[in-house]
Amino acid sequence: MLIPIILSGGAGTRLWPVSREGHPKPFIELADGETLLHKTYRRAASILDAVEEAPREILTVTNRDHYFLSKDEFARAGLEGRYRGTYLLEPVGRNTAAAVALAAHAVAERYGPEALLLILPADHLIQDEAAFRRAVAHAAELARQRRLVTFGIVPDRPETGYGYIEASEALGPGRTVVRFVEKPSLERAEAYLAAGNFYWNAGMFCFQAGFLLEQMARHAPEVAEAAALCWENTRGRMTPQTSMIELDAERFAGIPEISIDYALMERSDAVAVVPAEFGWSDIGSWCALSALVPADAAGNRAKGQAIFLDSRDTYVHSEDRLVAALGVEGLVIVDTPDALLVTHRDKAQDVKKVVAQLKERD
Ligand code: GDD
Ligand code: MG
Repeated sequence: MLIPIILSGGAGTRLWPVSREGHPKPFIELADGETLLHKTYRRAASILDAVEEAPREILTVTNRDHYFLSKDEFARAGLEGRYRGTYLLEPVGRNTAAAVALAAHAVAERYGPEALLLILPADHLIQDEAAFRRAVAHAAELARQRRLVTFGIVPDRPETGYGYIEASEALGPGRTVVRFVEKPSLERAEAYLAAGNFYWNAGMFCFQAGFLLEQMARHAPEVAEAAALCWENTRGRMTPQTSMIELDAERFAGIPEISIDYALMERSDAVAVVPAEFGWSDIGSWCALSALVPADAAGNRAKGQAIFLDSRDTYVHSEDRLVAALGVEGLVIVDTPDALLVTHRDKAQDVKKVVAQLKERD
C-alpha cells in the first residue's frame, strides 16, 4: 500500500518575477508547455501503475488558494477518472514538517499506520523514469523495515541549497545514514564534496505513516503535538467519499514552521538512503530553468520572442514583448507584464534577495 504525496507550496523566490506567492514554482510552464506539477502528477501515476495493491490515490498537500489550479493540472496530466486525486488544503504555509505530518495522519486514518507515503516535491525534474521506479521499489522495501528513506544524488559541486547525506562505509542494501546535514555552509559543503561519501538529498522520502508520526513525536515533539491537535479537529471532515479536506485553520497555524529536513532528518537515527541514479534536477534557479531550453551556437537561449546580436550565454524569458539582447554576455533577462529582471548568471541564486527587499517595502 503506497500513496504518493505531492508537496506543492513554498514561494520559489529564486524564480521571481515568474514565480510569485499567487503563482508559485510548481505552476510555472516549462518550454514544452507542461508545468512541474503536471510532470510530478504523471510520475506519481507511473509509480502507482508499477506497484501492486496501490489504492491509486494521489494526495496533494497545498495551499487552499491553489486547489483549483492543482485540480486543473491533475486533469491536464490525464489522471482524472483513472486515479483518485485527493487534496489536503492548508490555510497558510507552515513548511514541510507540518505538511508531511498531516499527510501521515490522513493516510493512517484511511489506510492504517503501515501504509507507505512517498513524498514527492512538485519542483523537480527526473530524466530516467524507469530508474526512478526501481529506486522507489527499493525505498519501499526499506521503509517497511521502519526506516525514513531518502534518495541520494551524487554531488558535483558544493551546493549550499541542498541537504547532505553522509552514507556509512559499508553500504549494504540497508544503506545506513551516518549524518544528515541540511543546507551546510560553503566551507562544509566543500569538505563533504571532497570526502566522497556524501550524497545530496533529493527532497523525496518514503516511510510508513505510523513510523513517521512516532519519529516526529520523538524528535520534533512540538510539531508532532500541534499537528495531532490539528488532525483531531480535521478528521471529522474526512469521509470515505471526500476528496478535498480543509485543515483546521486555527490549529494548523499553531504548528511550528520548520522543514522536515531540520525537524526530523537531521535528528533521527533511522534514516536510510537509496542512491538515485535517475537524472534528477531541482529547478531551483533561472540557470537550472534555462538549461531546459536548447541553446544556439553562441549559447543563447530563449523562451518567448528574442533576438540575440553579438551576445553569448544569455537567457531571455519573455511572456509578451520582444526582447533584443545586443553585445551582452552571461545575462538572465526575464520580462513579465509588471516586472523585469536583469541579472548576471552568477547572481541567479540571489534573486531571492530581490523578493526579500520587495517584502520589506510592502
Ligand atoms: N504543501 C506545502 N506546504 N508544500 C511546501 C511548503 C508548505 O508550506 N513549503 C515547501 N513546500 C514544498 C515545495 O513546493 C517543494 O515542492 C518541497 O515542499 C520542498 O520545499 P523547498 O522549499 O523547495 O525546499 P528546498 O528546495 O529548500 O530543500 C529541500 O529540497 C532539496 C532538494 O531540492 C530539502 O529537502 C533539501 O534537503 C533538498 O536537498
Ligand atoms: Mg526546492
